[in-house]
Amino acid sequence: MYIGADYYPEHWEKSRWETDAKLMKRAGFNITRLAEFAWVMMEPAEGCFEFGWLDEALAVLARHGISAILCTPTAVAPAWVARKYPEILRQNQDGTRAFWGVRKDQCYTSGAYRMLSQRITSAMASHFARTPNVIGWQTDNEFDGRCCYCESCRKEFQDFLRGRYGTLDNLNRAMGKHFWGHYATTWDEVEIPAGDGSHNPSVGLEWKRFNSYLNVRFQREQVRILRHICPHHFVTHNFMGLYPRVDYFDLAEDLDHVSWDNYPIGGRPYLSVAAAAAADLMRGCKKKNVWIIESTSGPHGWGTYGRNPRDGEMRTFAFQQFAHGCDHYVWFRWRACTAGREQYWHGILGHDGRPLRRYRQATQIAKQLRKLEKHLAGTTVKARVAIVYDYDSLWAVEMQGGYQGNDYVKGMLRYYEPLLRAGVNVDFLKPGDDLSGYKLVLAPCLYIMPDGLAKRINDYVRAGGVFFCDQRTGVKDSSGLCHERTLPGLLSPALGIEIQEYESVYEAGYKMIGSGGLAGEFTAHMGADWVIARKAKALVGYSDSHMKKFAAVTRNAFGRGAGWYCGTVAKEPAFYEALIAALLKDARIRLICRPVEGVEVSVRQGRGKRLLFVINYTEEKKSITVPAGGRELLTGKTTGKTMKLARFGVAVIRL
Ligand code: GAL
Ligand code: ZN
Repeated sequence: MYIGADYYPEHWEKSRWETDAKLMKRAGFNITRLAEFAWVMMEPAEGCFEFGWLDEALAVLARHGISAILCTPTAVAPAWVARKYPEILRQNQDGTRAFWGVRKDQCYTSGAYRMLSQRITSAMASHFARTPNVIGWQTDNEFDGRCCYCESCRKEFQDFLRGRYGTLDNLNRAMGKHFWGHYATTWDEVEIPAGDGSHNPSVGLEWKRFNSYLNVRFQREQVRILRHICPHHFVTHNFMGLYPRVDYFDLAEDLDHVSWDNYPIGGRPYLSVAAAAAADLMRGCKKKNVWIIESTSGPHGWGTYGRNPRDGEMRTFAFQQFAHGCDHYVWFRWRACTAGREQYWHGILGHDGRPLRRYRQATQIAKQLRKLEKHLAGTTVKARVAIVYDYDSLWAVEMQGGYQGNDYVKGMLRYYEPLLRAGVNVDFLKPGDDLSGYKLVLAPCLYIMPDGLAKRINDYVRAGGVFFCDQRTGVKDSSGLCHERTLPGLLSPALGIEIQEYESVYEAGYKMIGSGGLAGEFTAHMGADWVIARKAKALVGYSDSHMKKFAAVTRNAFGRGAGWYCGTVAKEPAFYEALIAALLKDARIRLICRPVEGVEVSVRQGRGKRLLFVINYTEEKKSITVPAGGRELLTGKTTGKTMKLARFGVAVIRL
């Protein structure tokens, strides 16, 4: 197991390196990540490479048993690059160029930038291919799909569309360019859509796909070189969890594994639902365990700093990730830098470089993780519940959510949160993935619905799956045009409902009355479909005026499975708890352990082992019912029926 911290030797006097390496070793660390933004130190002038300093740093680390992941440094182009090739700087919509001096301000269609990126990548790869303690690579830093509006990007956007649609006629039709007379009569007339959302949403969707693709392509060019020159090294990238601008399924494709940056700290200690969901999405990208390659180790911020992790809290962040399928853990950063924009992004050490409280915490965590290492080997999360996560739908919703306040990620979390609170593990799937291994599949706001996908969902339900979806499902085709069919279109067999009309719902909302497992009164707000239950049974209805004849939640028995639909957003979290409980029951999913408030449980399994993680994110003691007779791996004790957890306490029980 690799445990360590991100290190920037170039930020410190050489005389300090030995001390840092010694301290890392003493903390039980064996990995670091280097050279993330050090392009200019490695190529101070075009084509002149200086790797001596990094060789020295690597040698110091090697003496203390510490391996390294090297980064291709392309997230910040040196000043000489920007001077010599000003076109590499991203162009804003008003024609001005980004100011050099921050980071990630490059144009990804710039031939110069791509050539320079490939050259530094080759030079680094050739130089470090045989350095014994280099084990892998991180491409760039946090690809973020930022747009550039330069002429070269416009031309490439046209090429991208030509590749997808072939002829101008097809493009005009697929983008609905007859609207407002936007017909393009030559390829050259195809414009980049404005970023303010007023342009054609179909073109907007393609533009988002294009910018995501540019990052994937840029990375691919580096990966090819790295694989060719360093076939024995792994290649990864530091993803950003629920960050929406890049299709992470695509970005992950060329990599050996996904790594990601997790900064879950908030205003007070809490169970971070977003960090759990992000972990599951990150694992889902390659259906494979991941690395945490940056993670909170102190108060962070650029202008002002946030809250400091309290004693024991850093461990909850780490264990949450291991509970969701992380295998290696790296903190950001080793030591807070005394210079630059991130002076307040604190690390394990502060500016003073002394190994104080946070260092002791990290040391303890490293020790405990090592204790778990052999148990974790060969295990991962095996979920029976999946969420379909679709970047196309996310992007389309962003431009045109339909009902007021529709937000793809927030909508997904509305269902994810009660699943997490119920102690249910979840996989994230892309729309093309096989659903058959899951008992329950939720597809929140699957806005973009190609016909083939609808067919596979019907098949899944027919074969016995329980499927759930909600408002705006299946509204558009893959080029962002609204389907002409009455909703839910091709999903009608599985769902057994008809939606002829829908609306946004203001302030007070509509009253809903549920029955059975969903008994109670709830409030519908934000938006409501006027759902007519045809073959489906209405489980929740409305008690207000015109809504009385419509259903809010339906269940349709179809084939051997069931198709569920929710046509609104409820104000009350209790609604979602009840809904999830009902879905779990319908899908016959049994839980090993039911968490109490502020405590998370998660299961990793494999090679005949089952490990139950129990994590207390609060400052209060907790007690929780667990399966008796297991062995808690940190203490070696056999578990009774109830388990007591200290503040920020963690336990890993081998069942
Ligand atoms: C991450 C980034 C790091 C560092 C950190 C703190 O997003 O990958 O390089 O900048 O944030 O801002
Ligand atoms: Zn550009």
